[in-house]
Amino acid sequence: MSDTPHPDGDLSGKHIVLGLSGGIACYKTAELARALVKAGATVQVVMTEAAEQFITAVTMQALSGRPVFTSAWDDRAVDGAANNMAHINLTRQADAVLVAPASADFMAKLLHGRADDLLSLLCLARRVESCPLLIAPAMNREMWAHPATQRNVAQLRADGTHIFGPASGEQACGEVGDGRMLEPEELIEELIGFFRPKPLAGKRVLVTAGPTFEPIDPVRGITNLSSGKMGFAIARAASEAGAEVTLVAGPVHLATPRGVRRIDVRTALQMFDAVVPGAGHHDVFVATAAVADWRPASLSEQKIKKNGSKIAPIFELTENPDILAAVAKQALVAGRPFCVGFAAESHDLLKHSREKLERKQVPLIVGNLGPATFGRDDNALVLVDAQGHRELPQADKLTLARWLVGDIAMRLADRDSPTQEKKQ
Ligand code: CTP
Repeated sequence: MSDTPHPDGDLSGKHIVLGLSGGIACYKTAELARALVKAGATVQVVMTEAAEQFITAVTMQALSGRPVFTSAWDDRAVDGAANNMAHINLTRQADAVLVAPASADFMAKLLHGRADDLLSLLCLARRVESCPLLIAPAMNREMWAHPATQRNVAQLRADGTHIFGPASGEQACGEVGDGRMLEPEELIEELIGFFRPKPLAGKRVLVTAGPTFEPIDPVRGITNLSSGKMGFAIARAASEAGAEVTLVAGPVHLATPRGVRRIDVRTALQMFDAVVPGAGHHDVFVATAAVADWRPASLSEQKIKKNGSKIAPIFELTENPDILAAVAKQALVAGRPFCVGFAAESHDLLKHSREKLERKQVPLIVGNLGPATFGRDDNALVLVDAQGHRELPQADKLTLARWLVGDIAMRLADRDSPTQEKKQ
């Protein structure tokens, strides 16, 4: 994470009760507390006795900037209430309780509504409608896989608990498998997503992102400077908005947004095959990929050598299929997906965007200046449709992606609303 304010900035105004039960993953929760504060949240830490075996309340107080609560008998006033009822008062101003790590034992306790320490007490005493319970399990893989734990997970979900993770990987005990607590930055991403509005709930969104790479020989190829950041931000924003998202990515080194299904491809033809056959099963298609327009007509099996020659080789190129145009053609017949194209231009942005709108037969083109944005974390967009255009001013790509996704969700809702015409 960078030291600039979180681009999401999105936990500002949120008050989080951060509960720690016993587990070695408590060391990650120290970093999580810091990241929560950096993202703008206020954090009230509550620790079980077992958690205190792994990390001290002093550390958590220093990182959260607030005194830590560990005992149900702690009579310090909470938010002005001095009635010696920390187990009630601690959650009354909270936007969520996040238990990280949630041990197998703590989950079993939650399931049974047991309340024999402050953390389990306050989980039981919170107002379920206004203070959701989120847990990040952390345990040995056998403990996680045990039928008892899996039963508890299913029942906790049915009771309305949100479960973040766990991840798979190497464990503190040396074994490898499911049960690692998510990393702090992953938990922050989950939490931010949790609080976002869900205008695309129940919708399926397909996104292409990044460049394509068109090989000339085993070591060379044609590609471009697209970083994939805008497409990845759109995939994340759509997932946060509640959609089921598939991201078809060209060769980029970016982390997959949480909850997004990713298909990696290299060439335009591979991207075409990954997108076009299944596109009709989606509600929205956003084509942000900078697909190479041309590929070498033939691939040399071996590296092309100079062999002392001063004459540069000449490559014959052949055109790649237009993925967006192919999906848009299907959509004209099937009524979906709603297609959004991108226009990366070097000049005359509005003019070229409008031309693309007509040429590709899509309802929305998002124009941006390619050289000014490739590889950067910010961008400025212009949304062009049949009615006109609207500018989204310079902002970080995630912010722009959220605006765009909100705009797409409104267009879908307008299209699907039978009362819309009457309203206008
Ligand atoms: N696109 C695509 N498949 C291609 C080429 C482009 O799906 N083979 C999509 C891009 O993902 C983008 C839109 O079409 O959403 C516009 O891409 P762009 O390269 O800017 O447009 P072109 O049609 O290639 O036009 P030009 O190169 O002349 O600007």
